[in-house]
Amino acid sequence: MNYENILISIENNTATITVNRPTKLNALNKDTIADLHKAFKTLAKNKEVAVIILTGSGEKAFVAGADIAEFSNFSIEKGTELAAEGHEKLFDFIENLKKPVIAAINGFALGGGLELAMACHFRVASENAKMGLPEVSLGLIPGYGGTQRLPQLVGKGRAMEMIMTAAMITAQDAYRIGLVNHVVPQEELLAFCNSIAHKIMKNSPFAIGKAIKAINANFKEGKNGFETEIKAFGKCFGTEDFKEGTTAFLEKRKANFTGK
Ligand code: COA
Repeated sequence: MNYENILISIENNTATITVNRPTKLNALNKDTIADLHKAFKTLAKNKEVAVIILTGSGEKAFVAGADIAEFSNFSIEKGTELAAEGHEKLFDFIENLKKPVIAAINGFALGGGLELAMACHFRVASENAKMGLPEVSLGLIPGYGGTQRLPQLVGKGRAMEMIMTAAMITAQDAYRIGLVNHVVPQEELLAFCNSIAHKIMKNSPFAIGKAIKAINANFKEGKNGFETEIKAFGKCFGTEDFKEGTTAFLEKRKANFTGK
């Protein structure tokens, strides 16, 4: 499949999606969002792919935000539509994917770029990465889930301060407040994320999908996370993965999961 603004490689059952608009610091325009939507949808169905890593091209930026040039003359209606469509096609779409998505933050993750990283299931940053939600400096607020996901990850007070000051924080500070899980040298970033992917794919894909759903339910209005967990836990008992996992344990061998 051909994409204009992203690159995809698949190796060792891990797909790496690279946002590739280096001259614009990988800013998210409409076409890039459409490319990403198509890519995540396609990779979600690809049986060869167990884990997805999302990163940015070059050494400077993960994604430096939504493309400011594209929305600078928008009306109230078009602004509302931009956010709603982005949520549906990309940000919520990634969060609800059954396959794990790791953000490999290789540089600036600002505005929509940090929101994109926060929609992924967890984040790893390179030492040079800088993160922030600078929207209020443009007369806006975060519109791709930032006002919701940032407080979920770092707490309300820290989110309030980051959003109100529009300030950037370093990778080390992001680690300290729980926004990223690890900080590694830039040249090791993708190898490190691949090593986590490798650990994940030893486990049952079916169970991982259900775990993502149950964890997400804790943060969804109108959902009872405990109820979701109970139902998902029960469903696991009807799978080949459950039979294989428990049999392999009892036979003292490695499990060979199929995701069924
Ligand atoms: N939207 C559109 N274009 C962007 C962009 C964005 N969010 N972020 C960077 N770019 C473009 C710049 O306009 C510039 O394009 P040009 O060479 O055609 O003029 C190019 O990317 C390089 O950026 P530049 O600003 O020259 O790099 P820098 O090293 O001086 O600064 C940043 C880097 C990240 C600090 C700066 O680009 C920036 O503040 N970007 C906007 C961040 C932002 O507010 N994001 C939230 C949007 S909601």
